[in-house]
Amino acid sequence: MQQNWIPLFPEQASSFAAEMDYLYFFILAVVIFFGVGCAAAILAFAIKFREKRKFEKGADIHGSMVLELTWTVIPFVIAMAIFVFGAIVFYKLYRVPENAMEVFVVGKQWMWKVQHGTGQREINELHVPVGQRIKLTMTTEDVLHDFYIPAFRTKADVVPGRYTSIWFEPTKPGKYHLFCAEYCGMNHSGMGGYVYVMEQRDFDNWLAGNSSSQTPVQAGSDLFNNKLACASCHQQAGGRAPSLTGAFGKKVKLASGEEVDFNEEYTRNSILNPSGQIVEGYQPIMPTFKGQVTEEQLLALIAYIKSLGAANAAAGTGNGMGMSSGNK
Ligand code: CUA
Repeated sequence: MQQNWIPLFPEQASSFAAEMDYLYFFILAVVIFFGVGCAAAILAFAIKFREKRKFEKGADIHGSMVLELTWTVIPFVIAMAIFVFGAIVFYKLYRVPENAMEVFVVGKQWMWKVQHGTGQREINELHVPVGQRIKLTMTTEDVLHDFYIPAFRTKADVVPGRYTSIWFEPTKPGKYHLFCAEYCGMNHSGMGGYVYVMEQRDFDNWLAGNSSSQTPVQAGSDLFNNKLACASCHQQAGGRAPSLTGAFGKKVKLASGEEVDFNEEYTRNSILNPSGQIVEGYQPIMPTFKGQVTEEQLLALIAYIKSLGAANAAAGTGNGMGMSSGNK
């Protein structure tokens, strides 16, 4: 494996790793230049302008336009360069592209639980194909954690009761460290593992060899139609509750007059705290499912509800009861 030109740094193994490093080195260079410059000037002036005779008076200085402009304009340009460069890298990092392969991550004291769209589960490991855009949808069962892959130069807090997403495109096959980067209790330092970046065909073999139980969509369907019986109300339009077919990703008009996005967050809140977001034209009759569903089941329900939209768009029909045809 090829070593980085500064051995202190982790490998550059994602599409934005190099850019992130350029930004970092640029800021480092600015800091070193001014840090060394200021220290040298202090030393030089302390010697040059030391008191040569007792009670010497300093020279009278009345300002200099050139000097004032120089030390205003140059720092301004440098600061703006850092801002613009930083903003470009930030947007790349935290705006997830739409065609990414989605993987669910649930943090827990003290492990990372991972589930692929095809159903495979892993703990403290994440297998991904090289050259593919991967989106992680992450939450936690207990306290705040932080998912961090140094070689990909990306990390994000994983927050109780919320979904955060990061994405990356691994560029080199290999084995890379995975850490929890937020102190989360006694075994925080042990809450890590490895990301395995594999060639596409190796990844396909790995997927085939790890027979899965249920895909998230199947698990969600089972919860929705059988175990939690959400379907008894959400089955068809005109029922006691709004139909969910094709609803994901659209806007929802609430009884309060507010319009909100039907996204992961909204779905989760509607299951755990239904009376908080009543859809216009419906009664607040849905019971809460707080304490009855785990974070992983919530992710499965979200995957299923999302698939209702996708199946509908593709087939032009669908009553919300059928299984999705498969995963993209
Ligand atoms: Cu989880 Cu630190």
